[in-house]
Amino acid sequence: MIDLQPAGTFALGDRTVRRMGYGAMQLAGPGVFGPPKDRAAAIAVLRAAVEAGVDHLDTSDFYGPHVTNQLIREALHPYRGLTIVTKVGAVRGPDASWNPAQSPGQLTQAVHDNLRNLGLDVLDVVNLRIMGDVHAPSEGSIEAPFTALAQLQRQGLIRHLGLSNATPAQVVQAQRIAPIVCVQNHYNLAHRADDALIEQLGAQGIAYVPFFPLGGFSPLQSEILTRVATRLAATPMQVALAWLLARAPNLLLIPGTSSLAHLRENLAAAALALPADAIAELDRIAAEGQAKP
Ligand SMILES: NC(=O)c1ccc[n+]([C@@H]2O[C@H](COP(=O)([O-])OP(=O)(O)OC[C@H]3O[C@@H](n4cnc5c(N)ncnc54)[C@H](OP(=O)(O)O)[C@@H]3O)[C@@H](O)[C@H]2O)c1
Repeated sequence: MIDLQPAGTFALGDRTVRRMGYGAMQLAGPGVFGPPKDRAAAIAVLRAAVEAGVDHLDTSDFYGPHVTNQLIREALHPYRGLTIVTKVGAVRGPDASWNPAQSPGQLTQAVHDNLRNLGLDVLDVVNLRIMGDVHAPSEGSIEAPFTALAQLQRQGLIRHLGLSNATPAQVVQAQRIAPIVCVQNHYNLAHRADDALIEQLGAQGIAYVPFFPLGGFSPLQSEILTRVATRLAATPMQVALAWLLARAPNLLLIPGTSSLAHLRENLAAAALALPADAIAELDRIAAEGQAKP
């Protein structure tokens, strides 16, 4: 029996969500492009997540494109009690490339695409996915695109705003335009560039949502992680998630998987409490550059 309650909850704007959620990106086809190999299996993963108590889903209309949102709608509409976070700011090319799409017109189109594909009148949370450098946050003004999203929020199409792939300076710039409820950046046991940002956001009651919590397309591998997991009779992926839950109360987890077995394994990490000596040992992974990749 999976119990998500030990991980607790945190606020996303006017919603309170469980800290163990689910990220839907892995449900699209290879390279996050096209339909999944097994559509029924993808639907089953989404339903199993919600049946286990997940009430926070991460998605985007550029996964597929449109594929994960359409799967979510088929599996879960009308979404009672669910908070769905989506992101805008990119479009996919026919070659599966990820291209910036941050003009007011493109952002308006993206919000309407998300509304249509999810079957909603209002989006719960929309993150502006900053594309200056696709792979890591890089400085640059986000005034124009974030102002456009704030305008769409004022029109009643978006309940709350957030940022993704953002620098601390971009967080401050966005907050001068409109409140944000979350920041979604690359962060895990081995990739801790945002340690200070996590504390700053926590002090303001803003959620930090690490993407690639398990390492992304090639899951984390580290001798320390394996050793700690063996000692605790858990799996390395469960320990990686439990470490994030222990890291700070404002972290909301959205591990991604297309597998029912992995989903259950990951959700069970909500009940895994790490002793202080295990956390200290795991902290050495980033310090010593121990994890691959
Ligand atoms: N804002 C952004 O720019 C951005 C970027 C990337 C992702 N995201 C969001 O963040 C979510 C999480 O990131 P992610 O899905 O890319 O990466 P992730 O959660 O770090 O890891 C997913 C990978 O790990 C594998 N996996 C999952 N559970 C496992 C387990 N228990 N044992 C072994 N392998 C396991 C998955 O394969 P299987 O399918 O085989 O389980 C998949 O290859 C995404 O779903 C998406 O919603 C956002």
